[in-house]
Amino acid sequence: MAAELSGGAQRTAPFLAACRRQATPYTPIWIMRQAGRYLPEYRELRAKVDFVTLTRTPELAAEVTLQPLRRYELDAAILFSDIMTPLQGMGVDLDFDPGPVVRTPVRTAEQVEALPALVPERDVPFVMETVRLIRANVPRNTPLIGFAGGPFTLMCYLVCGKPSKEFEAARALIYAQPAVAEALLDRLADAMAAYLRAQAQAGAQALMLFESWAGLLAPPEFERFALRAAARTMAALRGLDVPLIYYANQGSALMESLKQLDVDVIGVDWRTPLGTVRRVLGPEKAVQGNLDPAALFSSPEDLERHVDRVLDEAGDAPGHIFNLGHGIWQNTDPDAVARLVDYVHERSARAPSAR
Ligand code: CP3
Repeated sequence: MAAELSGGAQRTAPFLAACRRQATPYTPIWIMRQAGRYLPEYRELRAKVDFVTLTRTPELAAEVTLQPLRRYELDAAILFSDIMTPLQGMGVDLDFDPGPVVRTPVRTAEQVEALPALVPERDVPFVMETVRLIRANVPRNTPLIGFAGGPFTLMCYLVCGKPSKEFEAARALIYAQPAVAEALLDRLADAMAAYLRAQAQAGAQALMLFESWAGLLAPPEFERFALRAAARTMAALRGLDVPLIYYANQGSALMESLKQLDVDVIGVDWRTPLGTVRRVLGPEKAVQGNLDPAALFSSPEDLERHVDRVLDEAGDAPGHIFNLGHGIWQNTDPDAVARLVDYVHERSARAPSAR
C-alpha cells in the first residue's frame, strides 16, 4: 500500500516502520524469492534469456523485480540478483545450473589470499544501476531491499563448489584449518559490506544478509565463524541509517547467539514458533517470518488458519514482518500468493493487535 502524504510529510512505509519496531496499520508482508520461477511472466522471460544475463542486464533485472509487485500488494521489493553475483565480480569463475557451480573451489590459504577485494561500482556496476531503475519505477513507492549472502553461506558454496546437503568440505575446513576459514570469512564479510553499502547508496532502503546454511553449525562454531563474520559486515553498515536484517535458516538452536547480533530484524524459518523467537530475542529486535512455504499448498480456508497462527505467535507488539520461513517453491500457485498477501493485510488490520 502506498506511502501516503499526510500533513506534507511522507508517512513511513509499513515495512520500514516494522523494521524499526514502530506501530503499523497492518502487518507488512513480502516473500523470500518473490521474483522467480513460480510466476509465469518470469518463466516467459527466462525462456528467452539465461539467468546470468538476467542478473547483469539492469532493465531486465528491474523488470523481474517489479513483476510480483504488479500482481500483489507486497510491502517490499527485493533486488533481483543472486548471492553469488558479487563473487563473479571478484573474479570467481562460476555458473548457474540452476544452483551456483564454482569451477575452482577455494580451499587453501593461497587461494584465500588471492581473492581480490570487491569494488562494487567497478566490478558489479549493473547491480547499482538495477537498484536505481527499480527505485525510479517501483509501484506505490514500495521500499526496496538490497541483499547479499551471509559470509558463511558464501563460504559454503566457494569451498564446496556446488550446492550440497551437508557442505562437508566447508565444515571440515572450519575444524581442520580454522585460521584459513576465518581469513576467508573476513574477506567475504568485507566484500559484502562494500557491496551492501553501494546498494544503499544507489537507493536500497533496507539491507539483508541471507544466511541460508546457518543451521549447519552448532552454537560455538556458529558464533566463532558465521556470526562473527556477519557482525563484521553489519558493523560496517551501521552508520547508513537503513534497517539491517539477518536471516538465519534452520536457526532454532541459535536464538541465544542471534540475540547478540546488532541488527534491526532477525528472519527465521518455520521451525521455531515466533512467540519463542520473540521471547528469546527480546524487545530490541523485530522478527521476520515464518510461514512454511509448503502451507501455500493448503486449501484457502486452511491457509487462513496457518496465517492466523503465525500472526498470533508474533503477538501484539510492533516489529513483525510477515514472510515465508524460506524461499517460495517454484511449483506454488500464484493465486495462493494473492490470497496470502490479501489475508495477512486484512486479518492484521482488523485484529485487536492492529493498534
Ligand atoms: O528474493 C528474490 O525474489 C530475489 C532473488 C534471489 C535469487 N536468489 C534469484 C535466483 C535471491 C534473494 C537469491 C538468494 C539466494 N541464492 C540464496 C539465499 C536464499 C535462499 O534461498 O536460501 C541462495 C542459497 C542462492 C543460491 C542459489 N541460486 C541456488 C541454490 C539456486 C538454484 C535453486 C533455486 O533455488 O532456484 C540459485 C539460482 C537462482 N537464484 C534462481 C533465481 C530466480 C533460479 C535461476 C533460474 O531461473 O533458473
